[in-house]
Parts: sequence; C-alpha cells; structure tokens
Amino acid sequence: MMPSEQRAYDKYNAMQIPRPEGLMEGEPVLQAPAPDSMGVAFAVTALANGFVEVADNPELAGAATFMADGMPMAGIDDRVLKMRITGLKPGTRYWYRVGAAKLENPAGTYWTKPSETVWGGVHSFVTPGENAPSHFAMMSDTHAGFAQMAKITALYRSLQVPLVVWNGDVPSSLMETREDLVRNYLVPPKNDGYAADTPIVLNRGNHDFRGVASHRLDEVMMTRLPTERSKRHLALERNFAFRMGEVALIGLDTGEDKPDHHPANGGFTHFTAYRKMQAEWLKEQFKRPAIADAPYVVAFAHIPLVELWPGANPGTLLEDYAVWQKECAELWGPILTANKAQLVLAGHVHRYTHQPAEDGRSWAEITGGGRGKDRFQTLLECKVETGRLLVRVHNTDEGTIVAEHSFAPRA
Ligand SMILES: [Fe+2]
Ligand SMILES: [Fe+2]
Repeated sequence: MMPSEQRAYDKYNAMQIPRPEGLMEGEPVLQAPAPDSMGVAFAVTALANGFVEVADNPELAGAATFMADGMPMAGIDDRVLKMRITGLKPGTRYWYRVGAAKLENPAGTYWTKPSETVWGGVHSFVTPGENAPSHFAMMSDTHAGFAQMAKITALYRSLQVPLVVWNGDVPSSLMETREDLVRNYLVPPKNDGYAADTPIVLNRGNHDFRGVASHRLDEVMMTRLPTERSKRHLALERNFAFRMGEVALIGLDTGEDKPDHHPANGGFTHFTAYRKMQAEWLKEQFKRPAIADAPYVVAFAHIPLVELWPGANPGTLLEDYAVWQKECAELWGPILTANKAQLVLAGHVHRYTHQPAEDGRSWAEITGGGRGKDRFQTLLECKVETGRLLVRVHNTDEGTIVAEHSFAPRA
C-alpha cells in the first residue's frame, strides 16, 4: 500500500462514529414465512444497514448472520430494513435478534463508515412445514383500529399461536406515502412487537390496494421468494401455499371490491386477469405433494366467495361494492371443491358468518368480524385436536369464544 493510501486509511479508522441512539423504532416484524425461509423487517430513524443473527438456541451460539437484502448492494435505507433468512429447516424453532448500524460519511468525504451495530432483544419463531404445529389464526379488517388490534395481538400471543394470517384491510384510508405503509404494517401504534415472535402472512384486502403508495407495499412488507412459484407465475408475488402440520394454508387475493371498469380504478387495474392467473396457480399447488397430501386444506380470501344472502353485490357492478366475489368464486371454488378443501376463511363483511359446505361445494366459509356498529373484532383460531380441525371464533372485544366449528380430514 502506498504511504498516501495508508494515511487515508488511518484517518478513516480514527474517525469516531458515535453510538446511534434511537436508531431502531419498534420491534421486528416476522413475515412471509416459508418452510425454509423467514422474512424480517424493522423500522429505523436514519440511514442504516440491517442485520439479523439466527441460531437454533436462545443463546445464539453459532448464529448465522444475514444482511439487509440486496445484490450487489445491501438494502440500506433510512426507514425500513428487510432481511431474508434462508436455509432454514421446516417445523423448527429458531431464535434471532436484529441489529442496525448507522451509516455516515465522515469529514465530508464519500467514504462511508458504519457505526457500531445496535442490537435488539432475542425473539423466536417456528418455521412452517409438515412437522410444524397444526395451529394458526386469522385476523382481518383491523382498519388502523390500533386499540382493537392490540386486543387481537395480545390474544394470539397468549394462545401461543405460531403463525397469523392478516387477511386484508389493514389501513382505513388511502396510503399516499411510504410512511403511511410504515405506520400501518410495520410499527402499528399500540401493537409494538405484534409479529416479533409470531410470523405474519399478509393477504391483501381491497383497502390494501388504495392510494398511490399501495403499489410500493414491497418496500415495507416483503413478497414471497420467487423460488416458491413456477416461472409462469412470477407475477403472483404474494400468493402462498404451505403446510402448518396437517393443514395446507393457501392464500388467494380477491383484489379490489369493484370491477376493473369502475371509475374508482382509473383504468389502471387488471384484477380480472390477476384472478384468472391465480386459478392456474391454484391448480398447480394441488400437484405439489405437500399440498395434495394434506389432511386439511384451508384457503384464505379477503372478500367472501359465497353469496352471503340472495342478491348480495357480487363485485361486478358499478353500484356500491362487492359483498362477495363472484368472479373469484367461479374461478377458484370448483378447484377447491375438486380437491376437497374443507374451509375458506374470509373477512371484508366485518362480521362473523358461517356458511356450511353444501352439495357441489366441499368447503365451508367462515368470515371474521371487524369494526362497525353491533360488530365485534374476531380472531379465528384453527387447531387440529383429536383428529379434527377445530376453528374457534374468538370475540376479542369481550375475550370470549363465540362459536366452534369442526372439520373431518380429507378422504
Ligand atoms: Fe374491511
Ligand atoms: Fe374489505
């Protein structure tokens, strides 16, 4: 090394970056879980790089470290850091902690120096898989009602539910900026740590598509890994199909609650094409042994797939908005029936309803409650016990169980 280079390094090394205070905001949010990978994101208050240390023991001995996602540059950012943990074993408990290092350009140069890494506390999760617990839950239509949401998140944590599907309608108003996304999904007020030990699977509802920032959701909430789907379905970034023990969970996205030609959609939506693409994807999922052989199949859709009452708005009209999604029901319903799926869990109507299976439809549909007069916010808890899939409908406002439904394994 030339002496002048050595002088430059000496100067760089001598520069002190003070330990950053308040760099991390809130707890990490585990997301997009898969049998062999886990996403985790958290908010920061200044330009930083992010890290996650993961190990199979609470002391984090021999931990593997992952940096903020990106190639060739790590995904450094001044607000959201996202890491993808890969190479995990299915149905396995892991412990982890996230860290952030502030990035500075000392003494006015473009040379960048990271601060020391500030670490958060140790948390844990269980990866999905055929050997994972047959236990999960669904919340929906929280609509930025953070105090009510806190009752839901407290309940699933006390029940030690290992995975929660957030089945759409997270915001209450248009998302115009990335900060709106951050406030709704990543650091929801009163819900700090809601997904620090409980991975969240986000399945969008109609409200999650509204506002100019909604199509930038992947800047805050990670999509599924491309390796989870075939090439012809690369555009389906959020559909999911994986096992939690004996149950196959399948995520379908019903999209907006008005047709593509509705003026509200401004001529820039392709929800009909998107729904058709998902039908092809859904057929493909049932060819995968993990899904084909599952004793139970539970599909998630934000907008109901059953006509809840005669003449209920089917989502194809210019008037009002969908009560149920006829297009999706016709595209996906027969595929679910051909494969003897037992259950669809939906939201959107902000009330608990139960439509049993009937002739020509193998699956029942249960909708979760939400905000509104004479409504209550639900947690739908699903668990296999004594050879049946049980669905407990929790009223999280009252702390009671309102109903219980039970399903036999697939023949
Ligand atoms: Fe809603
Ligand atoms: Fe909705």
